[in-house]
Amino acid sequence: MAGQMKMDTQPAHGDAAEEQVTHPEDRANAGVRIHGIWKSYGTGDTRSVVLEGIDLAIQRGEFVSVIGPSGCGKSTLLKVIAGLTDANGGDVTIDGSSVRSAAKNKMIGLVPQSPALLPWRTVLDNVRLPMKVNRRANGGRNLRSPEDILHSFGLGQAIDKYPAQLSGGMQQRVAIARAFVFDPSVLLMDEPFSALDEMNRDQQRLGLLDFWQSNRKTVLFVTHSVPEAIMLSDRIVVMAAHPGRIASIIDVNLPRPRDADVYATDEFRDLEGEVRSTLRAVMEDQHV
Ligand SMILES: Nc1ncnc2c1ncn2[C@@H]1O[C@H](COP(=O)(O)OP(=O)(O)OP(=O)(O)O)[C@@H](O)[C@H]1O
Ligand SMILES: [Mg+2]
Repeated sequence: MAGQMKMDTQPAHGDAAEEQVTHPEDRANAGVRIHGIWKSYGTGDTRSVVLEGIDLAIQRGEFVSVIGPSGCGKSTLLKVIAGLTDANGGDVTIDGSSVRSAAKNKMIGLVPQSPALLPWRTVLDNVRLPMKVNRRANGGRNLRSPEDILHSFGLGQAIDKYPAQLSGGMQQRVAIARAFVFDPSVLLMDEPFSALDEMNRDQQRLGLLDFWQSNRKTVLFVTHSVPEAIMLSDRIVVMAAHPGRIASIIDVNLPRPRDADVYATDEFRDLEGEVRSTLRAVMEDQHV
């Protein structure tokens, strides 16, 4: 529900996140920096290049969506940034740190495509799980209380329930809440709402937007939905396939804070036309 994900931390406006970065060199490295990422799977005849020369800089506190045809390497790109798979070339830094050290320090929160909750654990235990599994990562970190996070995500009543007792949308919110236990500076989300029906999806989207507007994180968000990408993002990265590469980056200059009214504006419709025609060009190119 819109508003359900609102966190009770102090609001961070426009450049509040930026203010935390004081040293000019830190500022230059802040956010996610992706340089010349190149990734292939297989060897010999079966070798295929999945990502070719991906360059992208995501500013601290910026919300960037990635959209593109199935198989163009969106999930692979997220996995490279999360340190779940190694690239064959290029490099990624997270607030100036290598992926390895950022992952070790739990600076990255990953929300996978399906909620991946353990059915035999309660909601609270599912959210506590990363703390138990990564005991050593807790040292010196400003951990958030799982109970507080769940309350902020509107799941206070669900704390002692099991995943099967929740709706799909609530399960998704538990998965998003779980990514916040370590208060990561970067959030990677791989089509988190894809399994939901349109109404539920819109509610979750507005909830995420509301949350992000009051608690800015650097976000890289994969989606297949054009309105979703526009509603949430500062910029939309359109990828092409075979090999996966960035075809275009579209700025979304809609004023913030945004709410559902924005869908009906001319600016929104113009952007929708622009993103859709870019995607069409990418798809046509693929079939030449
Ligand atoms: N572990 C793997 N081994 C071999 N090939 C893989 C592996 N993971 C992904 N691929 C291939 O890499 C390409 C990109 O996959 P990826 O999952 O990144 O695409 P995607 O853009 O996320 O697609 P979708 O929109 O369908 O989720 C695909 O052709 C896929 O078959
Ligand atoms: Mg994918």
